[in-house]
Amino acid sequence: MKLEKCTLHIGLEKPLKILHITDSHIALCDDRDNERKKALAKRFNSPDRERNLEEQLAYGRENCDLIVHTGDLIDFTSHANFDFAGTILADEKVFFAAGNHEFSQYVGEAYEDYAYKMNSFREMMPGLGAPLFFNTKIVGGVNFVSIDDSYHQFEPWQMARLKKEIEKGLPIILCLHAPLFEQSLYDYHISITHPGSSTYLVGCDEDHLPFDEWRAIEIRPRGITAEMVDFIKSQPQIKAVLAGHVHFSFVSDIAPGRPQFVTDVGYQNHARELTIF
Ligand SMILES: [Fe+2]
Repeated sequence: MKLEKCTLHIGLEKPLKILHITDSHIALCDDRDNERKKALAKRFNSPDRERNLEEQLAYGRENCDLIVHTGDLIDFTSHANFDFAGTILADEKVFFAAGNHEFSQYVGEAYEDYAYKMNSFREMMPGLGAPLFFNTKIVGGVNFVSIDDSYHQFEPWQMARLKKEIEKGLPIILCLHAPLFEQSLYDYHISITHPGSSTYLVGCDEDHLPFDEWRAIEIRPRGITAEMVDFIKSQPQIKAVLAGHVHFSFVSDIAPGRPQFVTDVGYQNHARELTIF
């Protein structure tokens, strides 16, 4: 396992150790699914993906207080993927934030909007067995809050729920699939792709949207999204953000002293161990 170790100082009496994993992209399928899904599994599946995830989970169970998975646990919706992922998410030690691939019926087949997501959600029920749109878990005096931003948007009810969590008065670690816009993260992403390509960050203004209008429509903040990003950045009680989605590792502050840890892909056996003091 390629384990990156980081620390976060928030004044805890007893240190807390977190294993952050993301983007496992498990691609299983069997005779319960149709030929299109079988073709996808044939294209993307590799036993390494399952082996790597099992290794990460074993390490986390042995050495950490909590395992946070920030989405794209599965590559597309299938019975075999639900079975595999459902078992993992039933583990009390695993806390989950959904990614865009959790709702992907066939990878890259369609414009992914709210209606598409809800169709997938209906297909998934009881699906992965974990709350997908908002969830919380208090461990060692820290409130872990996951919010679904997998389509680069937030919704008003998620803002209301987050405010309720802040009222609890505990330090919060926010678990998202898509990272929040931050200039150095944006610059790095552009530097390793090409100008005008998509950065897949949440809360991009017009100057930072991709030139590709198809992608820009998807990423341009709608509704409450930009306000929610500003709200998160303004809340000192939110001590850090854990995210994935962009498939590389990057750490930068969303506000002074409050980092966003973007972790590299689990399917290539990357993981981050975060010790919180
Ligand atoms: Fe991913």
